[in-house]
Amino acid sequence: MILIRELINEMIPIFSKAMNSLGVEDSDWVPLIGRATVEDHGDVALPCHSLASMFRKPPQEIAEQICALVEEDLDSIATVSSISGFVNVSAEPEWLSKCLLKLISDPRLGIGVEKPLTFAVDYSAPNVAKEMHVGHLRSTVIGDSIVRMLEFKGHRAIRENHVGDWGTPFGMLIEHLLDLGEDQAANELGVGDLDSFYKQARTKFVSNDEFANRSRSRVVLLQGGDPETLRLWRVLVDESMRYLNEVYSMLGVLLTDQDIKGESSYQDLLPEVVDRLMREGILETSEGADVVFPGGWVNRDGAPLPMIIRKADGGYNYSTSDLACIIDRVERLGCDGFLYVVGTPQKQHFEMVFQVAEQAGFMSPSHQAIHVNFGSVLDIDGKVLKSREGEVIKLHDLLDEAIRRAESAINEKNPELVGDERDDVARTVGIGAVKYADLSTERTKDYVFDLERMLSFEGNTAPYLQYAYARICSIFRKWEGERDHLTSVELILTHPEELVLARRLADFPSALDESISTFSPHKLCTHLHSIASSFASFYENCNVLKGEGDEIIRSRLAMCDLTARELKLGLGLLGIGVPERM
Ligand code: ARG
Repeated sequence: MILIRELINEMIPIFSKAMNSLGVEDSDWVPLIGRATVEDHGDVALPCHSLASMFRKPPQEIAEQICALVEEDLDSIATVSSISGFVNVSAEPEWLSKCLLKLISDPRLGIGVEKPLTFAVDYSAPNVAKEMHVGHLRSTVIGDSIVRMLEFKGHRAIRENHVGDWGTPFGMLIEHLLDLGEDQAANELGVGDLDSFYKQARTKFVSNDEFANRSRSRVVLLQGGDPETLRLWRVLVDESMRYLNEVYSMLGVLLTDQDIKGESSYQDLLPEVVDRLMREGILETSEGADVVFPGGWVNRDGAPLPMIIRKADGGYNYSTSDLACIIDRVERLGCDGFLYVVGTPQKQHFEMVFQVAEQAGFMSPSHQAIHVNFGSVLDIDGKVLKSREGEVIKLHDLLDEAIRRAESAINEKNPELVGDERDDVARTVGIGAVKYADLSTERTKDYVFDLERMLSFEGNTAPYLQYAYARICSIFRKWEGERDHLTSVELILTHPEELVLARRLADFPSALDESISTFSPHKLCTHLHSIASSFASFYENCNVLKGEGDEIIRSRLAMCDLTARELKLGLGLLGIGVPERM
């Protein structure tokens, strides 16, 4: 929190002297000082309302009295003013420029590293032989950006793709694979016809007894580890992953095959989960099933809600593998925290899993288990996004369409861009637009999937930010000096627009910290957008290359340089690229 924190640090001794002379202890006012809520009033503010009873004076008079006392000690750090009972502190341009120089000369742009912790980040997690839906897209994009931010802050982030690759549906899926013939089936899956494959199997399962019986026996063979059945299961998994990997590579996310840690990989731990729950004395039998009653949960009839650990037929549940997963993350991976980037509908599932895991001692209260939940993706009419036929939309098609539209927008804007470069830019802009639209929405809210808005060059969109970056690159293409030498220039901040930009740039590290500590990429997006829009006003109002004299030119170029570096780093942490021209 470069700007605000440093300014507060500078103010504390000065204010302390004044307050002590008024008989007020530090503990009474220090907790009150913070970021000014009205940007135009100042950077930092001290609200005096709660001091009124102590002073027996109206807040405005207290604020005025404090201003008069601190005035002479402020040097050239800041100015103060009293407005409606607040003491407002505004950094002086000279002090601000010193603050910015620290960022400019730092390859990490003033962003510190934290005491390293190990996090398992559970994200993406589509289901094998089922189309990945927009919810999986959200998980993939949000999870990936959280991984990048955590790593940049010095933490270890272990990516875990908890794919749904186990369970009773695999009986019917394997039988359907055999009916179709392996080659034909592999082909359908590999090109991404996952949904129709699943549906065909499902239709046979409900309408054909012979098929249903075969499917049930197949589940038994699968769970019993029959080698041929396992081989067929592998074909299903591998072919689906081939298609899913294509989507990952289009999206440019960090996930690889090494990160796959599907439900099937916890098989061996499941009996252990049962044993341990039994030993803790919390496992009960209910209607032939092994269950735990976490307490505090009731079903529709008001009866205590159980978590089913092992069904009456001996099969395990989704919750059981999530419990095994916690044991694995604590004991094998040594994680301090686990983040589950999964939609809001699974809220209760995770709350119950975390509660049982703690009751059973699988994790301790010192572990941070967090459901990083998110809302739905809606169509323009506000309904959950589906294809025209009412089916799950193929992500591959959606992304292709975004790239295609980006390409036509770029053709219009910059017809000189051709060939491979144009293709690359179209991909960076199209994919960036889709990711940014997702990330810039507060994650717990729903958002409307509107390609036209996402791809607009105006507003809080990726193309708007990418365009600001490309514009700065073009300024530097025209300038003849050494860009690297700008890290040691003196910043001369005079124009109001220049000062606004300076403040936003100086606040970048704090915006990033806020974003990662709350696992909320949208906070970083909002800040990057405010940087890009204040850059636009700066560029409109302050001549850069034709500035008044060499010193001003170099100072403004340094502002351009820092703007570009923050945009690039910030977008990079969101998993979004920046083109040099567009
Ligand atoms: N495969 C699940 C789904 O599609 C998400 C899994 C999330 N991760 C977990 N550890 N439960 O809904």
